[in-house]
Amino acid sequence: MRDVSLRIDAGEVIALVGENGSGKTTLAKLLCRLYLPQQGAIRWDETDTAAVDPDGLRRSIAVIFQDFLHYALTARENIGFGAIDQVDDLAAVRAAAVRSGAEPVITALPNGYDTILSPEFADGRDLSIGQWQRVALARAFIRDAPLVILDEPTAALDPRAEHDLFTSIRALYTGRTVLLISHRYSTVRAADRIYVLSDGRIAEHGSHEQLMAAAGHYAELFTLQAAAYTEPTSGPVLS
Ligand SMILES: Nc1ncnc2c1ncn2[C@@H]1O[C@H](COP(=O)(O)OP(=O)(O)O)[C@@H](O)[C@H]1O
Ligand SMILES: [Mg+2]
Repeated sequence: MRDVSLRIDAGEVIALVGENGSGKTTLAKLLCRLYLPQQGAIRWDETDTAAVDPDGLRRSIAVIFQDFLHYALTARENIGFGAIDQVDDLAAVRAAAVRSGAEPVITALPNGYDTILSPEFADGRDLSIGQWQRVALARAFIRDAPLVILDEPTAALDPRAEHDLFTSIRALYTGRTVLLISHRYSTVRAADRIYVLSDGRIAEHGSHEQLMAAAGHYAELFTLQAAAYTEPTSGPVLS
């Protein structure tokens, strides 16, 4: 990453977009202090995060990466591990599951919250990718962190579920700051500000309206994606 300068104000919902390999996940890992920058600094308020206790910093951040862990443990533990001191608090786990939409999936399992989410165990069950994403979202909800980073958390959700989640994201995370990485432009347009990454650099940033008016990279990708849904098919008809 080079020439990256971005500012995230408390309480904002910031979206990060860009093509595969543009550096979105890397930037998220830098913010979590999983990587240290070779040059420059990342500051939380005025403090350089390289100089603070990494454990304390990480407790202040709830993050779901694209390749989040699927623990071969119970549904309760898969959510509760987001806030390890609450792993035995079923009411807290359930509340997080209700918010992420995982609750109906879990209650339908043979042993509910005590079902092991792995088919290798007796009465264990695997979940679909979309259902796992709801479990991962609950894992982020349960952690009472001021900064929430969601790295393509909804790529496997169906369009209605994704729309419902994004329209509720502000209500879900009231008072928290959210950095959202997504490929779906229809959902990132609601963010307060959008940063567009390209080849490890910030190509442009602004609100959806500003970026559309600028007619740059974002506008091109947005229009391309929108056209795929609205234009009549011109290619060969599959029959
Ligand atoms: N740990 C790493 N060390 C070196 N290069 C990496 C590492 N992780 C990712 N990359 C490379 O950095 C680039 C950006 O990756 P990534 O941040 O995962 O992109 P995105 O999330 O936007 O798809 C890619 O070219 C990727 O191969
Ligand atoms: Mg990524």
